[in-house]
Amino acid sequence: MAAIFFLTLATVFIQAPCDAHPVLKSDDVIGNFSYKSLTKVPPNLSPNTTILDLSHNNIKKLDATDFGYLLDLKVLILSHNQITELVSKVFSSNFYLEYLDLSNNRLENISCTFPSRLRHLDISSNNFTSLSFCRGFANLLGLEYLGLGAANILKLDLESVSHLPLQQVFIDLKGLYKYENSSLLVLNTNRLHLSTISDHKDIFSVLFDAVNTTKFLELSNFGKWERGKHYDDYVSTIVSNSQLTHLTLRNLGVPWIDFIRILQKLWQSSLESLHVHNFTVQDVILKAPFDYTNTSMKELLFDHVAVEVFLFSQKDLYRLFSEMNIKNLTITNSNLLYMLCPSKPSTLEHIDFSNNALTDDIFQNCLTLTKLKTLKLSVNKLQSLSQVSLMTERMTSLQYLDVSQNPLNYAGKDCRWSPIIGRLNMESCSLSSSVFQCLPKNIKTVNLRRNDISNVPLDTTNLTNLEDLDLGYNRLSDLPDCTLFPSLTTINVEYNQLPYPSPESLKNCSGLKQINIGNNPFHCYCGIKKFISEKSRSPGKFIGWPDDYVCERPDELKGVKLEDFYLPEMYCNVFIMVPIIVVPIIVGVFLIFALCKHFDVPWFVKMVWKWVRTKQRTRSSKNGYQELRRDFAFHAFISYSENDASWVKNILLPSIQSMKDIRICQHERNFTPGKSIVENIINCIDNSYKSIFVLSPHFVQSEWCHYELYFAHHKLYSENTDNLILILLEPIPQYLIPSRYFKLKALMKQRTYLEWPKEKSKHTLFWANLRAAISISLSESEQESSVSVPSESS
Ligand SMILES: *[C@@H]1O[C@H](CO)[C@@H](O)[C@H](O)[C@H]1NC(C)=O
Repeated sequence: MAAIFFLTLATVFIQAPCDAHPVLKSDDVIGNFSYKSLTKVPPNLSPNTTILDLSHNNIKKLDATDFGYLLDLKVLILSHNQITELVSKVFSSNFYLEYLDLSNNRLENISCTFPSRLRHLDISSNNFTSLSFCRGFANLLGLEYLGLGAANILKLDLESVSHLPLQQVFIDLKGLYKYENSSLLVLNTNRLHLSTISDHKDIFSVLFDAVNTTKFLELSNFGKWERGKHYDDYVSTIVSNSQLTHLTLRNLGVPWIDFIRILQKLWQSSLESLHVHNFTVQDVILKAPFDYTNTSMKELLFDHVAVEVFLFSQKDLYRLFSEMNIKNLTITNSNLLYMLCPSKPSTLEHIDFSNNALTDDIFQNCLTLTKLKTLKLSVNKLQSLSQVSLMTERMTSLQYLDVSQNPLNYAGKDCRWSPIIGRLNMESCSLSSSVFQCLPKNIKTVNLRRNDISNVPLDTTNLTNLEDLDLGYNRLSDLPDCTLFPSLTTINVEYNQLPYPSPESLKNCSGLKQINIGNNPFHCYCGIKKFISEKSRSPGKFIGWPDDYVCERPDELKGVKLEDFYLPEMYCNVFIMVPIIVVPIIVGVFLIFALCKHFDVPWFVKMVWKWVRTKQRTRSSKNGYQELRRDFAFHAFISYSENDASWVKNILLPSIQSMKDIRICQHERNFTPGKSIVENIINCIDNSYKSIFVLSPHFVQSEWCHYELYFAHHKLYSENTDNLILILLEPIPQYLIPSRYFKLKALMKQRTYLEWPKEKSKHTLFWANLRAAISISLSESEQESSVSVPSESS
């Protein structure tokens, strides 16, 4: 019989099954030296190494001392090197070695003994002529995985391991020269994996034995099948009478028509499960009749299907799958655009169409998927959340829906879900807060991680059955109000924007058994203290505590764990803060106020201000004084009422005259007999640089008239009052000033007078001001005039 499986290997896949990999533990010491172009095993490795990867190098020889000191070694990977020989003692010290991969080397014989704890041994893809060395494996009673390969596969050789209860045997048939019939049948293994199925003359014998050796068979690396060979008779020979229940095909390219025929044969065999990985559909796709009856098939999986056909009826393809009377259907990573609704009530219970290109049209108005329990549509092109909900409405058995990683949005339309849906996965769907308006009423578990949710709206309808809510990686700034979800026991809000959970929300969420609030940008101020104390009251409730709970603000506390954060009670408690901070402030203000009052601070300030201003004026008009100098005999003329004479003589004059070189024109002293009082006054004023009037109620009423007369015809009356100094000895009520003296009234209003303070403490400043006002130095050559003004009231 001619070969059926023609091999035109485009890419060589050496794909080990999942359970063939070592399991890492946290305390493992790993030495990874793969792809390092090593020609020898590196010396001086850490003696604690438990996992050593030396794959993909150019190592040719192993010495007995290479691994002798690695007493803890558990995993050793030496695949893809050029090792030709194993000296007998090479692994003799590695008592704990469990996993040894020597595949893809150039070994021709094995003379060493392997550690008896070995569970995984792969010596496939070497240059062995036969498997005679298998006799040395007879004592490896713990062996679970055995990878082999040789030019001659003989029954006798395999019989030496037939007593080992193996989980999986892998045989690479590349380089097969001779296969002795029934050899595989002696193996005692749960799974058999054959790789590189070439068009060898013995390949049918191999496959015929393979399907009868185990229930689980994997065939990989077929390459592309040629079209039109009479393989279907042959396949039916292989599968009839086989005990195979699970078949996995890997890396295979088949014309569509041939594939349908093979599938038809498999459909009516003992097979319960068919997995096809990396499958290329060639040639044309034609509508082919398919008989679904008489099947044991329960599960079908297609992963990474590529269709190398450009023009075909999509419906013919979809119809084949949609009508399948099985329980589990998986088509992933295959660019699936659409799937038909089954034409009659379907047996499908679990559908997985992840990683395809499905759109909102999928299963719309489909009434026949009534047994469907789980539907996975992760990583597709679904857009409308309400369409998704309507799709499930008639799936009356649907319990779990996965639509994660679809570009979903919800536009506030109708949402009607399967009546018993309990779990919903909508991770990474770019959904906003509005999604809460479209959740199934009876939902128990919702995954909304990695969306765009900023809050849980308060008008959300109560989800009374919701137990588990995952809102990690969103934009929440507070915990949701748990009164909306009275049954909630688990919530995850890690990686959100919570500065701290507000105490109210924590109170409402008291039914929670587990909360994860880790990795939020916590604000370590007073507000967070409630949260920390709540935490200490319920140990074990907060997932990730303490490592994931770290201050973000203020800057100086960034990176500090909440566990270590401490803020004295004083800063946070109003009742403590008020007495400690506010009271001293109030007292201080009162104190300052009282002191001001007591020492009349405003008065001092006013007087100092006046003094400064006067000083400034004096300085800025120095030149003017230079001119004036010559014209004046006196610095000042003082006028006062007889009633105030004692103050003037006893207090004012001594004080003024204590100033150096001050000359005063005074009533008595400078009086010129024979002249009228007014003449005398005018004379005195004319010869003085400043005129000082000592104002008191009496003065205003009885003396002012004299000066009014003077002012009446004197030019100064209308000029500035710079040369006028008014000293207010006693306060003068406005009503005492006769209304005709409007000049005086105006001056009083302007407060251009100096007030004589009663308190002794203020006198110094009063004098300073007065002196500043008079301050001018008259030239010494000036002759002292003798002008005196009578002060008697007329
Ligand atoms: C079908 O799929 C479900 C859910 O993935 C799984 O639990 C079950 O074991 C599968 N059944 C078969 C026959 O593979």
